[in-house]
Amino acid sequence: MFAKRTNWNLTPNRLSEALAAHRAAGKPLIDLTVSNPTECGFEYDSSAILDALRNPAALSYEPNPRGLESARRAVAGYYADRHEDVSAEDIFLTTSTSEAYSYVFRTLCNPGDELLIPSPSYPLFDFLADIQDVSLVRYPLLYDHGWQIDFRALEQAITPRTRGVIVVHPNNPTGHFAKQAEIEKLNSICSAREIAIIADEVFLDFALEGDRPASFAANRGAPTFTLSGLSKISGLPQMKAAWLIASGPQQWKSEALARLEVIADTYLSVNAPVQLALPRFLEQRHAFQKQVMSRVRCNLAELDRQLAAQKVVSRLKVEGGWCAVLRVTATRSDEDLALELLTYKGVHLHPGLFYDFPHDAFLVVSLIVQGAGFAQGMSNALAVLR
Ligand SMILES: Cc1ncc(COP(=O)(O)O)c(C=O)c1O
Repeated sequence: MFAKRTNWNLTPNRLSEALAAHRAAGKPLIDLTVSNPTECGFEYDSSAILDALRNPAALSYEPNPRGLESARRAVAGYYADRHEDVSAEDIFLTTSTSEAYSYVFRTLCNPGDELLIPSPSYPLFDFLADIQDVSLVRYPLLYDHGWQIDFRALEQAITPRTRGVIVVHPNNPTGHFAKQAEIEKLNSICSAREIAIIADEVFLDFALEGDRPASFAANRGAPTFTLSGLSKISGLPQMKAAWLIASGPQQWKSEALARLEVIADTYLSVNAPVQLALPRFLEQRHAFQKQVMSRVRCNLAELDRQLAAQKVVSRLKVEGGWCAVLRVTATRSDEDLALELLTYKGVHLHPGLFYDFPHDAFLVVSLIVQGAGFAQGMSNALAVLR
């Protein structure tokens, strides 16, 4: 009686099972996968956050498919601060980036149409695609003194059913940004074939080096949807506030906005208190991002210090984001390795498999884990890995 699209294999994998058993037995655990910023010991201005939710204007209902203008202006202001020209009229508020993806997939794709996604990348895409009846086709990222898009493979992956190319900027977990030359190449490929760029920029503000990377939000060179939100930018995933921006050729943009408006009007999903609070939640990003960048830099320095004492494990270059990728010796599968680390050392790391790495030899570690736990966890892990 159920739809085929929900025929998922929901049996937990070996690592999740072992983790649940480890926790149930009350054994000590250092979790080097935590990515929930509210659990990482960052200081939040709790009175500012809670006060922002006590706005008397929340007592009346003013439905707007795009979301309240005051909130959209604040989002446009966030881009203006980055010197990116985004109009509040081109922004739709959503409850999450995941919801924004679903609006975009619904706007672009008929059942069975295809979207290209980077590999390795973030594991949620498979479910998002299944729910919207979309097929995912992977395009590889290559690692050679840093990550880059394999454009030859990307172009070969395009078929008459391709509707868009997803770019995670910077990518999770590889932590690399799309470079200007890559953005230009994406624009030329996508505009020539009339397919869209879908840019996920939740980690855009967390660049470790160099100039501030440009956003896709003001990209005019191809039909473009840009997604971001407060879960990472301000470290407030519980507030469920995100957005979607359309940019590109004027005629395409007008049509995309009209279609999105119908979808958004059907759900009107973002609640009034959060929309009213959004400008103040966005202000929280300055203090939050400062703490995250300092944590990430300290943990990377600690990681490098520990890696320097051995020769077997190395880390890949990180340009930004909240993760580091470790390259290990592939004497067993990444999943077996992660299981061994959990069972014998009480350390939880993600195997590369989880992020669709093309072969074994990769583990992923979160860089926002609190310092002492991070150092101890890495030291326990390296005792097995080296
Ligand atoms: C690349 C990327 N996009 C989107 C999300 C989810 O964002 P949201 O909480 O707004 O749905 C995550 C969460 O980890 C992510 O890593």
